[in-house]
Amino acid sequence: MKNPKLFLLTAIMFSMLLPIQAQKFQGLAQTPPMGWNSWNKFACDVNEKLIRETADAMVSSGMKDAGYEYIVIDDCWQVSRDSLGFIVCDPKRFPSGIKALADYVHSKGLKFGIYSCAGDKTCAGRPAGRGHEYQDALMYAKWGVDYLKYDWCNTDKLNAEGSYITMRDALHEAGRPIVFSLCEWGNNKPWLWAKEVGQLWRTTGDIYNCFDCLYDHGTWKQNGVMQILDMQSALRQYAGPGHWNDPDMLEVGNGMSQNEDRAHFTMWCMIAAPLISGNDLRSMNAQTQTILTNKEVIAVDQDILGIQGFKSSVKDSVETWLKPLNNGEWALCLLNRSTTSKKVEMDWKTFSATDTLSNRVLDTRGKDIYQLRDLWLKKTVGDTRKPFKITIIGHDVLCLKLFKK
Ligand code: GLA
Repeated sequence: MKNPKLFLLTAIMFSMLLPIQAQKFQGLAQTPPMGWNSWNKFACDVNEKLIRETADAMVSSGMKDAGYEYIVIDDCWQVSRDSLGFIVCDPKRFPSGIKALADYVHSKGLKFGIYSCAGDKTCAGRPAGRGHEYQDALMYAKWGVDYLKYDWCNTDKLNAEGSYITMRDALHEAGRPIVFSLCEWGNNKPWLWAKEVGQLWRTTGDIYNCFDCLYDHGTWKQNGVMQILDMQSALRQYAGPGHWNDPDMLEVGNGMSQNEDRAHFTMWCMIAAPLISGNDLRSMNAQTQTILTNKEVIAVDQDILGIQGFKSSVKDSVETWLKPLNNGEWALCLLNRSTTSKKVEMDWKTFSATDTLSNRVLDTRGKDIYQLRDLWLKKTVGDTRKPFKITIIGHDVLCLKLFKK
């Protein structure tokens, strides 16, 4: 639609036809979404060159081949609204415009995502969606947006469920299937109501690039990887195909040690988290690339049953985590939360665990023999007829897949 006034009129007409049967787009994100987002590494320092180069790197690094799909520009792409209220991107940083950028990302066989916020302004103080939901949704659809992250800053007195439903309905009316990622930080317990609203919802405040710490800004806090992990346990029953708990984007490659990055990545896969990388894909080293593209670990995250894993026991700072997988398989990971090495012995003759959510039982005491595949070594390391002994260094994991021959 070339005429902006006509476009605005269409937007107003859409918003007047109040969406009696509006709903979220069905069939999207049947496994946790995978992609890249600019915020964790670049914050407001975004521009079209970075996004194009990141799309290129997503392909050349093997990330696309491993399943990563969405390239999402977070906050700070927008600067103002025009006289008709349409959102305007930063002309210095995005001189070709958002549509051209989306086209470029699509030309790489990838999908394109963008950020806005339910409040008057975004968290970085840019113009946000409140009161412009239908107009923005039409613009996003016109640009070819495939994924919208929708934040919760500057929402004084707004009702969270109502605000997100308004944007959901606007997206639905605009007609283009767009994954709707609610970024409400868990303040209003979105897991209780967002299944019908979006495909994923943040469960916590922002992640901090640290394995085990809390960073206090005074008025708000950022959580380390372990702190976020601990907040997910009570929420597993709310996740499943098309509706995921989102413990925030990955910090892999942003400065933690190699074993911490490996443990972070593994645990996000164990809890069926969206895998949204947040590092500089253009310059990542081989270690980071190896972690982010481990297809066997990614397969745990992307398992079609979509059951969020759980902690089944803890002994001497080593946690045992389980995730029921399709075909009667299991992922079993041992997470060493201490900073020192731990010797662990899995005595399969005495091991059994029950998942009351999925009604699945893993019992290695009887006649069932499981093969053990180490998903980081990428090799079979024995079976459940013999005890498995290993030393796990501090802040590292062992991750096994158990399967019957
Ligand atoms: C909030 C979100 C972050 C990021 C910033 C952008 O803090 O939780 O993920 O989107 O806003 O300003």
